[in-house]
Amino acid sequence: MITRRQLFSLAGGAAAGLMTHSLSAWASPFRGLNAVTPVNGVQPDVELRLTAMPTEVSLFKGSPTAVWAYRGEVIKGRPESLVHLKDSFLGPVIRVRKGQRIRIHFENQIPASSIIHWHGLHVPEEMDGHPRFAVPQGSSYLYDFEIVDRAGAYWYHPHPHGRTGHQVYGGMAGLFLVNDDEEEALDLPSGDYEIPLVIQDRSFNMDNQLVYLAGGMMDRMTGHMGDVILVNGRPRFTVRAATRAYRLRLLNGSNARVYKLAWDDGSPLTVIGGDSGLFAQPQDRPFVLLGPGERLDVWADFSRYSTGPGPILVSRGFDTGAAGMMGGGRMGRGMMSRILPNGAPFQIMKVDIAKKKKVHIRLPQRLSRQRPPSLEDATNRRQPRRFELSMFHMHGLINGRSFRMNEVAEDEIVRTDATEIWEFTNPDGQMGMMGMNVPHPMHLHGAQFHVLERSGAYQGGHQDEGWKDTVLLMPGERVRLLVRFGKYSGLLLYHCHNLEHGDAGMMRNYLLKADQEMKII
Ligand code: C2O
Ligand code: CU
Ligand code: CU
Repeated sequence: MITRRQLFSLAGGAAAGLMTHSLSAWASPFRGLNAVTPVNGVQPDVELRLTAMPTEVSLFKGSPTAVWAYRGEVIKGRPESLVHLKDSFLGPVIRVRKGQRIRIHFENQIPASSIIHWHGLHVPEEMDGHPRFAVPQGSSYLYDFEIVDRAGAYWYHPHPHGRTGHQVYGGMAGLFLVNDDEEEALDLPSGDYEIPLVIQDRSFNMDNQLVYLAGGMMDRMTGHMGDVILVNGRPRFTVRAATRAYRLRLLNGSNARVYKLAWDDGSPLTVIGGDSGLFAQPQDRPFVLLGPGERLDVWADFSRYSTGPGPILVSRGFDTGAAGMMGGGRMGRGMMSRILPNGAPFQIMKVDIAKKKKVHIRLPQRLSRQRPPSLEDATNRRQPRRFELSMFHMHGLINGRSFRMNEVAEDEIVRTDATEIWEFTNPDGQMGMMGMNVPHPMHLHGAQFHVLERSGAYQGGHQDEGWKDTVLLMPGERVRLLVRFGKYSGLLLYHCHNLEHGDAGMMRNYLLKADQEMKII
């Protein structure tokens, strides 16, 4: 049997070398900040413990699979604040309300440094899970913050320097659902009728153990592509449903794979929300491209089906744009990735219509009164900040620069509460020796945005509606975002959410500074 220790040696020689390197670098930046409690006598509404630990799950016949998982427990507050997914290695779904004060004790029991980031939430700097706050095995980190964001499907995952891809892949991730009054008034399907669906791809060896980056250098350039599709940590996932309406809370929790989501029977996807909450009104879409880190809120009405097999959620085939010499991702790739390159079609999940039920729930046509930011508010309308993404000699670059733990450049300073235009470009046909033609899902911490415009000859289907924190750039595309920055000052990240790209350095700090601080410099 392969032991947990060996799981990580499966990453291969090159990766093992990298691991040793980063581990020694991690020993120093440990901060004692958290020994002091940041609570100032304010009592939390919800207090949780999340423990990251090596464990095993039974996914296939034969040997159980060694994983790294978040295990959760409610210390204070409603027990429903944590929803445990059955037989899943994923972290429990955290369910809280806007306005609540949350305290989370993170206990790190995995044999590596780690820290948790709350993807999409606005939290004070020390609560955001920047890699510089990573704590070693056996240590803990205390989070204490207020939920200031509107209802939405946020999520949590590790964010240690250079090892995020590895740890998320190992099983560490979970949904963080926030509810608020506006959403509650709509009376959308809830309880058994609201289904969290985290979509991920993984590779396994013959002994059912996870295999990471076995394809070596090419896997690092494209990001890891697994050939087994998991939903909520389970292969061959089936939802048993009744003939009524459901709310599906989808997250692309994959390291690098893009999904082109659709129902196999040609029904439209009725999308009611995206990354950070509900849209103004529902939208029917033939399919939706969902990049790593992006979320989708789907209204699925099964009332016109009869009992038996229902629709299948699939990912349709698409062109990644890498049609040149890397065509189909065949060059130098591992066995696994060759079976299912990015853009290959496959099934994600089946719906089994198990019972008839006569309930009539109408989909509200007005979902949210949340307004987009106004272009007039942008302080840099004449001169948008421009970011060009590239890969060079195994390094991910943003405007030619790679991530450095504490580095922030002159042109990476932003005022708190500012509205700005940010423009990202994924250049096409940059096929130098180490150049790549790959999608880049760009993500900002401490901010949310609207997509203003998108250019490039891609075939469409992007999820550009509503408030977002992650935006997908296919090869050759450029997006303009109207970004609303948060109120908490500090050193925050923006990066590619292809986790192998982020780990390879396609990540930078930006500094959010309050107005008075801006005048000092
Ligand atoms: Cu979901 Cu900086 O990450
Ligand atoms: Cu984030
Ligand atoms: Cu990328």
